Amino acid sequence: MQGVFITGSDTGVGKTAIGAALAWQLALQGLAVRPRKPVESGYAADQDGLGGGDAELYHGAVGGREPLARIRRYRFRAPLAPARAAALEGQALKLNDLIAACRDGVDPGDFLLVEGAGGFYSPIAGDGLNADLAVALGLPVLVVSADRLGAIHQALVTAEAVMRRGLTLAGVVLNQVAPRADPQMDNGADLARWLGCDPVVIGHQDTPGDTLVWRAIAPGLASLAASLASGAGS
Ligand SMILES: Nc1ncnc2c1ncn2[C@@H]1O[C@H](COP(=O)(O)OP(=O)(O)OP(=O)(O)O)[C@@H](O)[C@H]1O
Ligand SMILES: [Mg+2]
Repeated sequence: MQGVFITGSDTGVGKTAIGAALAWQLALQGLAVRPRKPVESGYAADQDGLGGGDAELYHGAVGGREPLARIRRYRFRAPLAPARAAALEGQALKLNDLIAACRDGVDPGDFLLVEGAGGFYSPIAGDGLNADLAVALGLPVLVVSADRLGAIHQALVTAEAVMRRGLTLAGVVLNQVAPRADPQMDNGADLARWLGCDPVVIGHQDTPGDTLVWRAIAPGLASLAASLASGAGS
């Protein structure tokens, strides 16, 4: 199956900002992009029951063409690991449920873009880690790492874990979620040396709101999107 599994070195490192920007770029290149955030915890619905979660951003990034309920099959209120948040609402969350949610509505030739929850070795279900979901789907993995002190360790550990699971590393994105604290720091150049390929470095976007952030990031992901679209990551 053509697609990409987006994981992070941590939570809050910009998986959705990068994922939404990539989905937009891939759709621009003519692909039928099927974004999936199969489970979202810490979900706070607004008065209309809509909320402003990850799935809403993906929905907007593909021009509203994918139903929200397909993008995000499961949502839970507690801002905890998904299975724990599900248990607090009396539900059990199984890996097979998430695999089915990711595959549902995806036709041959479509591009499946999946965002996990947390990092590669974070639990995503009661019986599986993000790594297990990525393996079950067999997708190349894109690692998003916050570009800050400590980023090289986090990116290399995650990239190595991806390869140990027998998966293709689609790339590493170093994302400046916060403005660079020290102008002397150059994690992009330093990581390239140890990783053996160039990471994509995305600068801090000083724009208000998550939608403006992913839109501002999108131009910097054009060549990564082209390489994913050509199947180079699979
Ligand atoms: N390059 C950037 N410049 C400015 N803000 C950014 C950048 N990347 C991400 N952000 C902001 O940082 C916050 C966290 O990003 P995001 O939600 O994409 O992270 P995540 O890894 O998907 O988090 P989660 O683990 O909760 O799914 C968001 O408010 C997002 O708009
Ligand atoms: Mg996210």
